[in-house]
Amino acid sequence: MNSMTSYKSSKLYGEVVVPGDKSISHRALIIGSLVTGKIIIKNLLESDDVIATLEALKTLGIIIKKNKNIWEVFGNGIGNLSGSGFSLDLGNSGTGSRLLMGLIAGSDVEATIIGDESLSKRPMKRIIKPLRKTGAVFDNPNNDNLPIKIKGSKIPLPLEYNSPVASAQIKSSILLAGLSSTGNTTIIEPSLSRDHSERMLKYLGAKISTIQLPDSSWKITLEGLPILKTLDIEIPSDPSSAAFPIVASIITPNSEIKVLNVCVNDLRLGLYKSLIEMGANISFSNRREINGEPIADISAKYSILRGIKIPKSRVASMIDEFPILSVAAVRAIGDTTMEGVEELRFKETDRIHTMSEGLRSAGIETKEKKDSLVIKGRGPDYALKGNITIKSRLDHRIAMSFLCLGLITENPIKVVDTDTIKSSFPSFYEIMNEIGAKLKHT
Ligand code: S3P
Repeated sequence: MNSMTSYKSSKLYGEVVVPGDKSISHRALIIGSLVTGKIIIKNLLESDDVIATLEALKTLGIIIKKNKNIWEVFGNGIGNLSGSGFSLDLGNSGTGSRLLMGLIAGSDVEATIIGDESLSKRPMKRIIKPLRKTGAVFDNPNNDNLPIKIKGSKIPLPLEYNSPVASAQIKSSILLAGLSSTGNTTIIEPSLSRDHSERMLKYLGAKISTIQLPDSSWKITLEGLPILKTLDIEIPSDPSSAAFPIVASIITPNSEIKVLNVCVNDLRLGLYKSLIEMGANISFSNRREINGEPIADISAKYSILRGIKIPKSRVASMIDEFPILSVAAVRAIGDTTMEGVEELRFKETDRIHTMSEGLRSAGIETKEKKDSLVIKGRGPDYALKGNITIKSRLDHRIAMSFLCLGLITENPIKVVDTDTIKSSFPSFYEIMNEIGAKLKHT
């Protein structure tokens, strides 16, 4: 089992580029498989999660090749996956497994989705329930966990679905099935989750609209059977990966870094808004757009932080960033309160509990409830002892967050089972060391 240890570091400095966005990479491959013809993808994130999706698509009859640094996806058109009786191993990837179920629901194929220990514990009924209404058949619809066998249909029924949670995976899964349908597919979500699927589909020519309803929920409507164009897709850098060097710089005295070409889609920026509210010195420059996604360079400096209450309305836009926010909160003056965050219990681990437990072992007071977490900040000058070992529990963001914390503790922090970092940020070790973080493979 691999592990990494982080040691107190004096100053993080430099300009870096983090890898491509994970959500957009999954979507580029999956939506690319639905065009008729070749789509070129630049800067695809070559992480374990994304490669699992890529391999699954190949098993379903899609030709995907790498030509120098560019990926080529030869789409078969909407509803034209092929094969039956396959087992598709999506590893650690919630996005890959759930989006593929939506894709399969819109094709005349049958496959069994499997995953690793962490993914096999995550809830799947949230996807099975809506997809059954489109005509997809599940071997055991009451089963909430992988392995799950699903059989799709070439012409799924158009669906109108009111989702109880704001989840881009639920939304995207339904939209992918809806692409094969002859009518309109509609999803209503309580607040708007990341809209990369909608943006990519629109960029490729699909008709899709998003409106806010009087009760403040959001309604997304897609016209079935669009003609998708074979346009190139360039993946911007992942704001969820950029979050690690950025928070590390904000909490490490004398630091100043810049992360280039980051996706700054508003529905992904909750962490950055929260850090600015906490007093962090963060700025955005060189704003531009690539294939329907806004991007910018993000600069960050060491800052004195104060605790805040994260508004519930911001939770969806920072759903993956609560572990690293919790690390920033440790250094803040006063409490940081996260409410309405129950969804964190259904991620790669139960992130409310895992962060709370890990921070407590590092001498930080926390208050954990079913759907909230409060972290009592120790302020910028307190000598945090460190000297702890954290198990990643196959959660890449837990692993990276505690390694960032180790940069400011008096004694090192060791994280065990760090291979999982390759799910989203394969060059984490190299990039952190490039800016001066003292990380070692141990
Ligand atoms: C993702 C959606 C989010 C997020 C995940 C990626 C996506 O999950 O946590 O890392 O690419 O659609 P939920 O849809 O479960 O909130």
